[in-house]
Amino acid sequence: MTVKKIGILTSGGDCAGLNAAIRAVVHRAAGHYGWQVIGIREGTHGLLARPPSVEELRIDGSEPSILRWGGTILGTTNQGNPFAFTMPDGAVQDRSNEVIEGVRLLGLDALIGVGGDGSFAILRKLAQQGGIAMVGIPKTIDNDIGITEASIGFSTAVEVATDALDKLQPTAASHSRVMVLEVMGRDAGHIALAAGIAGGADIILVPEITWSVEALARKVEQLRRTGRNFALVVVAEAVKREDGKPVKQAHGSGAVTYGGIGHYVGEKIAQATGAETRVTVLGHVQRGGSPGARDRIIASAFGVHAVELIAQGKFDHMVVWSDRQVKAVPIAEAIGQYQAVDPKDALVQTARGLGISFGD
Ligand code: F6P
Repeated sequence: MTVKKIGILTSGGDCAGLNAAIRAVVHRAAGHYGWQVIGIREGTHGLLARPPSVEELRIDGSEPSILRWGGTILGTTNQGNPFAFTMPDGAVQDRSNEVIEGVRLLGLDALIGVGGDGSFAILRKLAQQGGIAMVGIPKTIDNDIGITEASIGFSTAVEVATDALDKLQPTAASHSRVMVLEVMGRDAGHIALAAGIAGGADIILVPEITWSVEALARKVEQLRRTGRNFALVVVAEAVKREDGKPVKQAHGSGAVTYGGIGHYVGEKIAQATGAETRVTVLGHVQRGGSPGARDRIIASAFGVHAVELIAQGKFDHMVVWSDRQVKAVPIAEAIGQYQAVDPKDALVQTARGLGISFGD
């Protein structure tokens, strides 16, 4: 296969480091191989538009700056699955063939999808149905894609959450309060675990470990006995209430997301210990902002190697970070192994070794 023109799209929730990956793809594909690189706007939405909504990506004067930018210059969407697309009148349609036709209209020899497990499941199905030569780059602040030790965006999200704990600690100590920080992470507790360790939390609640109010109260009492007048609690958004129910929010668009468990936990601690609690829900600041150095590095490595996969004709694979190297694994294999926090994980053991309670 002679590659002349490739497309790239970002799909799913945005995160810091996407632009660094786009830049790296352009460098390797256009700069080294001389291929044309077409940026597709707003994920598969750009391929549904007629003509397809795209822009050619070139190495030009403004290019070095995008390495530092948050978000994605291409735009993205975490809604609008083309296999079950909700039309303006509410009807649900399969528009997969229109997306495939969009790729054909653009004359793309290969496509790079930058996404999480949900996006890859859709992109892979499209690729199989339409005979699209696709490779993947993993990104998600949730860090829950199988096999890869790193996904673009996670490191920066952890930095943001750690910075929040750094800022909460002095005010917690000044007011003798229990500060609860709710962080993102859809169904996995990786951000809470990593930021909790880095930010010196006393309690970390993750969805993978069942907690109880009694255990939280015990920890707060234990801290008091040592003379401590405050406590820092990190709660992953996907942690369930004591009755096993998740705390979710419905949005006007029809989307439903996690949100609110921090307030539930804060109230429970206040009732059980008499402590004054305050709750911070960190939200989307974990996804925005300039990427940290690690995300820039991972994104750059993934972008360069994704282009190499195309040059080698190694499709239906995605790049992963493993053993200090970039490797290629079948996309199906990676998304088939959901990566939650393993309670036997080294970081869980590290936290326990530091005296951090998981509420169990
Ligand atoms: O998957 C990334 C993520 O930020 C999750 O951590 C969070 O639950 C979700 O996306 C929020 O989605 P939205 O951008 O639709 O609010």
